[in-house]
Amino acid sequence: MNNFEFFNPVKVVFGAGERHRLAGEMAKNYKKVGLVSYKELGFLSPLLSEVETQLEKEGIEVVKYFGIEENPEIKSILEAVNLFQDHQVEAVLAVGGGSVMDAAKAIAAGYYYEGNLWNMVYSRHDNVNAVPPEKALPIVTLPTLPATGSEMNQCAVVSNKDLKEKSYIWSTVLYPTVSFLDPELTVTLPAYQTACAAADTISHVLEIYVNGEEDSDLQHYFQEGVMKTVIDNIKVCLAEPSNISSRSHLMWAATCAINGFASPGDAWTPIHQVGHVLTSLFGVAHGASLSMLMPAWMKFMSAKRPAVYKRFAINVMSVDAIGKVEETIIKEGIEKFEQFLIEIGVPVKVSAANISETDFDAIVEGVRKVSFNNEDVLACNPNVTADDIKEILKLAL
Ligand code: NZQ
Ligand code: ZN
Repeated sequence: MNNFEFFNPVKVVFGAGERHRLAGEMAKNYKKVGLVSYKELGFLSPLLSEVETQLEKEGIEVVKYFGIEENPEIKSILEAVNLFQDHQVEAVLAVGGGSVMDAAKAIAAGYYYEGNLWNMVYSRHDNVNAVPPEKALPIVTLPTLPATGSEMNQCAVVSNKDLKEKSYIWSTVLYPTVSFLDPELTVTLPAYQTACAAADTISHVLEIYVNGEEDSDLQHYFQEGVMKTVIDNIKVCLAEPSNISSRSHLMWAATCAINGFASPGDAWTPIHQVGHVLTSLFGVAHGASLSMLMPAWMKFMSAKRPAVYKRFAINVMSVDAIGKVEETIIKEGIEKFEQFLIEIGVPVKVSAANISETDFDAIVEGVRKVSFNNEDVLACNPNVTADDIKEILKLAL
């Protein structure tokens, strides 16, 4: 097992209806709060009115920034930083999915950051270009989409259209102080967003399961538990969108997948690094970028890590191994997983986003620019080269 440090200071208040405790909790510490949400409110309008009313009843002044887009842009983050500095808010409250929570975190850190905010963002994985923030306003989150785990981690993923880059800020100052996880808020999610969220949650543990340290007993059982919880509950949610029990399981699985508990000692998310480029170059939704890549990645890599792929087939996809050779078990496991993704309605081919072989060089260059290390590989176990990525993309056509 790898050595590791583990730290997670986030207080979680979980359960249906728990959003009603948010204002009272915030009133204990703050008198003026910056409220962050999407540009297009739609489904969120009633919730935001409810939150605002409750905060004001508790005597909290609310400064609103409703300008966040999917895959939040550094320009919007800067706009909100300026607004919140003008009003001298004491904390930042995010109401929305990963894009809103990540933006709120970047805003909270940007509030104190000297110089260009983009310098907070990792531009290469050998870390030469990032100056992570050392101070941030307190962050509170009310997630409406169970996927990114942003509500309980130290990461914020941000985009820069001008540079065509998407990467992350990583700092302990980005942990929220408290997150209210209310599964009732997720019943309005359309089927496609629900399925993309499920693919994202699975990817957060699957990537580490198949690319990380093999000698990780509890980590592997925990990761399998997250994957099985999603596989068991996503179909119920798609059939009965208001099923709070299944919505609750998906929400807690999403949080636990990427809050540090599932994978201490291992942090490989190489499929995400390619997925981020599919988003920044072709506008593919985050969860879909991962579902397009996971089966192809597994087909290409499984021969290099047969033991873990066999375990995945048996323990996660419930392949009956009796009388079968290892190669068949692994193949059946990956096929069953691909079929599962198709059944929940997410794409499993990059061609679904009109990506063809002529785009491969640009994709690889995008990954190299942000995520390759100084040995010119995407670090994981085993490392992935530019040619490997092209082979994986071919399998995903
Ligand atoms: O569908 P519309 O009306 O446009 O509204 C939103 C939003 O546009 C909709 N939505 C959210 N909650 C809803 C809802 N619709 C109905 N009912 C609700 N309750 O969903 C759309 C997508 O929202 P977004 O916030 O973009 O999605 P998600 O939560 O998947 O966040 C994606 C972002 O998080 C980053 C991704 O890269 C991407 O930028 N990630 C952050 C991570 C982290 N902080 O640790 C890790 C992840 O791997 C990920 O990279
Ligand atoms: Zn993700």
